[in-house]
Amino acid sequence: MTVPTKKTRVFSGIQPSGALHIGNYLGAIQQWVAGQGQKTNFICVVDLHAITVPQEPAALRQQTRELTALLIACGIDPQQTTLFVQSHVRAHAECCWILNCVTPLGWLERMTQYKQKAQKQESVLVGLLDYPILQAADILLYDTDEVPIGEDQKQHVELTRDIAQRFNYQFGETFVVPKPVIRESGARIMGLNDPTAKMSKSDTVRGHAIRITDGPDEIKYAIKRAVTDAHSQISFSSDPERAGVNNLLQIYQLFTGKTRPEIEAHFAGKGYGALKGDLMDVITESLRPIRERYQHLLADPAELDRLLAIGAEQARAVAEPKCREVLERVGFLRPS
Ligand code: AMP
Ligand code: TRP
Repeated sequence: MTVPTKKTRVFSGIQPSGALHIGNYLGAIQQWVAGQGQKTNFICVVDLHAITVPQEPAALRQQTRELTALLIACGIDPQQTTLFVQSHVRAHAECCWILNCVTPLGWLERMTQYKQKAQKQESVLVGLLDYPILQAADILLYDTDEVPIGEDQKQHVELTRDIAQRFNYQFGETFVVPKPVIRESGARIMGLNDPTAKMSKSDTVRGHAIRITDGPDEIKYAIKRAVTDAHSQISFSSDPERAGVNNLLQIYQLFTGKTRPEIEAHFAGKGYGALKGDLMDVITESLRPIRERYQHLLADPAELDRLLAIGAEQARAVAEPKCREVLERVGFLRPS
């Protein structure tokens, strides 16, 4: 008799703050959708992380539903993936506290995302520094094997590994040590107006990003103005001077699923006008069904809340026993 092998556990999270762009879609969400079925997937809308910078309560509530609708519209199937909201599972905050008490402060102060975000704040909240430990709690509570993310989150997953190893060393084997999974192409989609900077939710300049919910006019506006270069050949390249064209080609590749040689052959002898025209069509047609599904889902908030309640229940069934194990490991008395 063959012993059934445990399915690979996948966990990832996304913040309900700001509109999602094609960088989020191509760098993260597409991978999550592709892994459904073969792996056990957990996707978490991380509202506890969102409040590490000030949020308006009504807007946060709305954005949490919007993000849920958008993830489903992008292909996350609540039947196949446990899709849930972080604050619905108390174990995340509880486990974060325990991990706070095994992690040296210096490990957090080194985090580049913290340093970048802190610079932009007038007053830095303690939660912003603690952010990566909450992320570690998210991941470790589910015995996660793989964390599919964009390049910018790699340091946080490495910190998670360090925390897991330290805890296991101090208190005995408790946590699975997860590994980051980063797509080779699409790990870093760059700003269309500035291909030296990552496409980012927080940059709201028109033409910087294409949001997943953008219609044809916005897509056209951004692609028309996208930075290119003075060369004329359309080819993939790691030359920093050609970062703009390379970024457009990567976006084209990820939306069409074609190989690099196929794409280069398709554009051989053509100019940037042709690349931009084709790209506009490809993005518009890829996003259209997502936008339509999104509008439809958002019109029924009660149904979204129902799906999230099911997700939370499934998540709790995994996270709560794990959290109990952690509490016992550190020596807390079991409540009787
Ligand atoms: P965030 O926008 O920071 O909430 O990120 C959500 C997910 O999208 C994370 O896995 C990020 O690594 C990924 N991501 C964000 N921006 C980009 C980008 N410009 N290119 C590729 N992936 C990205
Ligand atoms: N920090 C991640 C981001 O900004 C979001 C996140 C929170 C996450 N918890 C996670 C990602 C756990 C992967 C796993 O994108």
